[in-house]
Amino acid sequence: MAEDSTPPVDQLAATTLTSSPTPPLQKAEFSNRTLIKTILSRPDGGAALAGQKVTIGGWVKTGREQGKGSFAFLEVNDGSCPANLQVIVDSSVYQLSHLVATGTCVWLEGELKSPPEGTKQKIEFRVHKVLDVGPVDPAKYPLPKTRLTLEFLRDVVHLRPRTNTISAVARIRNALAYATHTFFQQHGFLYIHTPIITTSDCEGAGEMFQVTTLINEAEKLEKELIKNPPPSEADIEAAKKVVEEKGKAVADLKAAKASKGEISASVTELTKAKENLSKLEERSKLRPGISKKDGKIDYSQDFFARQAFLTVSGQLQVESFACCLSSVYTFGPTFRAEHSHTSRHLAEFWMVEPEIAFADLQDDMNCAEKYVQFLCKWLLDNCLDDLQFMAKTFDKGCIDRLTMVSSTPFERVCYTEAVEILENVKDKKFENKVEWGIDLASEHERYLTEVVFQKPVIVYNYPKGIKAFYMRLNDDSKTVAAMDVLVPKVGELIGGSQREERLEVIQQRILDMGLPLEPYEWYLDLRRYGTVKHSGFGLGFERMILFATGIDNIRDVIPFPRYPGRADL
Ligand code: 4AD
Ligand code: MG
Repeated sequence: MAEDSTPPVDQLAATTLTSSPTPPLQKAEFSNRTLIKTILSRPDGGAALAGQKVTIGGWVKTGREQGKGSFAFLEVNDGSCPANLQVIVDSSVYQLSHLVATGTCVWLEGELKSPPEGTKQKIEFRVHKVLDVGPVDPAKYPLPKTRLTLEFLRDVVHLRPRTNTISAVARIRNALAYATHTFFQQHGFLYIHTPIITTSDCEGAGEMFQVTTLINEAEKLEKELIKNPPPSEADIEAAKKVVEEKGKAVADLKAAKASKGEISASVTELTKAKENLSKLEERSKLRPGISKKDGKIDYSQDFFARQAFLTVSGQLQVESFACCLSSVYTFGPTFRAEHSHTSRHLAEFWMVEPEIAFADLQDDMNCAEKYVQFLCKWLLDNCLDDLQFMAKTFDKGCIDRLTMVSSTPFERVCYTEAVEILENVKDKKFENKVEWGIDLASEHERYLTEVVFQKPVIVYNYPKGIKAFYMRLNDDSKTVAAMDVLVPKVGELIGGSQREERLEVIQQRILDMGLPLEPYEWYLDLRRYGTVKHSGFGLGFERMILFATGIDNIRDVIPFPRYPGRADL
């Protein structure tokens, strides 16, 4: 019997493992190239890939001609990771001056090669063929090669993702969104899309942007009336006269027993004259400006036939789903027309808002704590290279902070206790006076979390006067079951509460706050029919990114920031 020369399966596995310690290189899906991350993020930095032929695409970070113009080095980045791939092109392959400008897009075929001994990179790429180039005129490129301030970059918001910082923030932001869905899905929460256009003011603070077509309609009309002025009194009188004449003509024909055909032709003319008159009368009523009724803007003429706004929070609507689906969350953009020019406020920001039925304030705090810890751990596990970049460039402490928060239980203090602590602070003078009843200012929040406890702090049971109407009134009738999660660097990251589930109490709270009941009737129905103890919170997504990255200004952690005076693109 001939000997079988095929080695047994386990032996085969062993030989494959020793001869190829890293997994084979994979091409990107839906795009003809290999992502630079899949090359550089291997444990050996890609060294074992030498000899492999690949196609890559990306943008030149820096390029320089060398060897008297015989070849060029390009540092190419494709956004898949913070690191650049070192690329070498010979002048015989392409005109080097067309490749070296910062910002140039290159799509290249070539081979991965081991770099010479002593260089810092583990692998480099030698170009065989240039598939395509998106050129840049360096004299006109709006991003100079020097280190740019984040403030400068806000003026080139469409090109700023080309910078290392903004692209690292984008990857971290993406990871936090993925982590958010993972956390809530793993815990049995349903993702609910709450409306962006709403007619309810969730926070009752009157800081909503209005959504209306009245203004553009009025502008359109004004233009139209200039081009095509409304009819004068005389025009209308003339038209009335025509109607009279045509009416008489019909009557005359009927009296003269004219033929059916003649009468009906004359009736048609009369109808036309009447239509013309009514059109003129309609147009004569048109007035430039927004339509008013009893001296007030007539919203029945508006797009939704009532006043409408951009939402400040999806909470009220998500509650209607919590009160039947139990554990839900919404994650979307929210809008606030507050004139805050701070580094912590945006006019458009994203909020993650879970809402849990059969849950009290303790459950709410537990969920918030676990969620924030999960986010921190996720970033450490999935974005370490970007975090290292942040630590090097912006905030030495950001990785330690994430590590600490991911593994340290949060401190919990009630508001009254927090105020007592702040009143007894001797080593610092606060700009805002501390006394029971004040809304804690950012300086107070940061002092508690950064100096007193040096870890995240949940402050709960706030005075009812400074919190929204929907928060559950405590038995002392002075405080509500609210909680804010405060974290170092940022201050308030999360605001939440147990909701007031008692119909009479919440009705009274709405009235006490000087708000009308009518717009909240639908919300009160949730208490009228099958009310349930429930709780929820909102995490400011950009504040979480500030916390994670150590970046100072919230305008730099959202792709297209909107704040007073600014809404580019
Ligand atoms: O504390 P807030 O106002 O709470 C609510 O809106 C509740 N309806 C949430 C809920 O219970 N479902 O906002 C929640 C969080 C704040 O803690 C803060 O992190 C962030 O949203 N936030 C802002 N972030 C950026 N810019 C602004 N203007 C913000 N206002 C609030
Ligand atoms: Mg708040």
